[in-house]
Amino acid sequence: MAEDLTISKGTKAEQYQHLLPQLQGLLTGETDFVANMANTCAALKEQFGWLWVGFYLIKDDELVLGPFQGPVACTRIKKGRGVCGTCWQQEKTIVVEDVHSFPGHIACSSLSNSEIVLPLHLDGQIIGVLDVDSIKTADFDDTDRHYLEEVVRMLLSTDSNR
Ligand code: SME
Repeated sequence: MAEDLTISKGTKAEQYQHLLPQLQGLLTGETDFVANMANTCAALKEQFGWLWVGFYLIKDDELVLGPFQGPVACTRIKKGRGVCGTCWQQEKTIVVEDVHSFPGHIACSSLSNSEIVLPLHLDGQIIGVLDVDSIKTADFDDTDRHYLEEVVRMLLSTDSNR
């Protein structure tokens, strides 16, 4: 298993293309889902330098904070609340160019200006979300949606999530 990540420069797509095989290497063979979520956050944060990268998992009808990298965050989010709770409700990726204009946005950090949240689907059921926050307005676009959905697929296709 690779212990060190090689950080790349270039376009956003090139950065993802460099990172994804390394992430696959990190995840492959590891059977612990928490460990794999943790390394996924770390790898994304290290490559892109975003403010916050982390997981919320559905437990007893709430999203509960999981592994993350970045400032401390709110621990529980109800369905339909904020960007994460909306992603859970709609079960689709949500890209928010300006969090300040998203109704009900939950500001875990006042430094966050844009956000992308992706659902985690396992066996057709949503089990949580991947949340990424940036200090830059409109930092996320279809390229992030495309590659982060691939990251989520990669994570959930390891044998660590059951
Ligand atoms: N901003 C999110 C809450 C989670 S933090 O950003 C880590 C939301 O509105 O759901």
